[in-house]
Amino acid sequence: MATAVLGLQWGDEGKGKITHLLAREADMVVRFNGGPNAGHTVIDRGVKFGTHLVPAGVFYPDTVNVLAGGMVIDLEILREEVETVAAHIGETPELLIAENAHLILPYHRLLEELEGSGAHFGTTRRGIAPTYRDKAAKVGVRAGDLLRPDRLAKRLEWRLDLLKRQWPESEEVAKLDAVQLTEDLLSVAGPLAASIGGATAAIAFALDEKRNVLFEGAQGTLLDVDHGTYPYVTSSATTYAGLGNSIGIPAPVVSQRLGVVKAYQTRVGAGPFPTELEDEIGAGFQQRGGEFGVTTGRPRRCGWLDLVALRYAVALNGVTDLALTKIDVLSGCEEVRVCRAYSIEGEEIERFPVSAEVLEDCRPVYDVLPGWRESLGEIGSLCDLPEAATAYVTHIEEAVGVPIEIVSVGPEPEATIYRGL
Ligand code: IMP
Repeated sequence: MATAVLGLQWGDEGKGKITHLLAREADMVVRFNGGPNAGHTVIDRGVKFGTHLVPAGVFYPDTVNVLAGGMVIDLEILREEVETVAAHIGETPELLIAENAHLILPYHRLLEELEGSGAHFGTTRRGIAPTYRDKAAKVGVRAGDLLRPDRLAKRLEWRLDLLKRQWPESEEVAKLDAVQLTEDLLSVAGPLAASIGGATAAIAFALDEKRNVLFEGAQGTLLDVDHGTYPYVTSSATTYAGLGNSIGIPAPVVSQRLGVVKAYQTRVGAGPFPTELEDEIGAGFQQRGGEFGVTTGRPRRCGWLDLVALRYAVALNGVTDLALTKIDVLSGCEEVRVCRAYSIEGEEIERFPVSAEVLEDCRPVYDVLPGWRESLGEIGSLCDLPEAATAYVTHIEEAVGVPIEIVSVGPEPEATIYRGL
């Protein structure tokens, strides 16, 4: 059985907790997009981790963890994460790195600063866009190049030469040296080099053998480079549609496409956000929900749940069921609002606009539901939820036409309600 876990908002939906829970039963966990811009919060045996690159299966010794071809990898961060998790679980997690995954190199971060794109878009400043741009421009360096040091050195020499011609006045660029960089990369890669290669074949085999494969998405649908709120997006395909291309298997059979949605909306960085609350209600979500970036520590912008955007994300990912997270954060709200449509130029629309400029002009049209006072953290069954919280869950299900199978009521693995239990 294969499952994909997909973010349905602007990231930070709580995919980390959900994938960690599901990974317990998985034979293989495949992270398929993005890089260390992701920040997945995981509590494993009482210890809290903020992971950026390693798939959630690393916490379970018998699980194979794949970093697929659609990813961009910062070797230093990966090495550090693997070592931290190894110390925690008492053995080195099993890892496979796709040869065609691109490497984030020191000059990619530098470029984000030199060009000012990090500040303009409010990116995570992890060199994500320059790395994906190098990939598309055919000047990138891939994980597989680490296996052929001569080729790696030549490629870096050529790339740095180009960079120096583009940035003749930058002292930091002038200092970059291909021989040194090659040495540094090989040294940081160290034991990871043995894990490079064979990713697509391993995934194909696991799927053919009907093993339990979990595909772990990063970021969220509204940050997808093609279908998100461009240009306020990340640089990879974050949706189910991008999965096949990333892993190199056309239309893989993934029977469960589990969409993760937070009970309210958040966004970090710049870009339109129709339901944003710049008042004490939004500040309350930020405080109670701990809405500060795992990767950057930045406060997240908060607002009411946007059902227009959610319906769009559900359709785009072919979502079969939902995990609703952080509903406990809404406790104490006198009323709870959900955006059912947008109003633009005197007209009501229910379709999510492709253009970020149009979305910028959209105003939310809300349905108002009753709130609830009770805290939800201890609740273990859907039928024990307060009436108003149940009405909220049902309202979302009916609005998007997909069942909610998991409800998360706190960060710990135990604070999870499964439908039917
Ligand atoms: P980049 O991916 O660092 O280029 O950032 C582009 C946009 O995506 C910025 O608004 C980031 O804040 C946002 N972003 C990237 N990764 C994540 C994530 O994992 N969670 C939430 N936002 C993200």
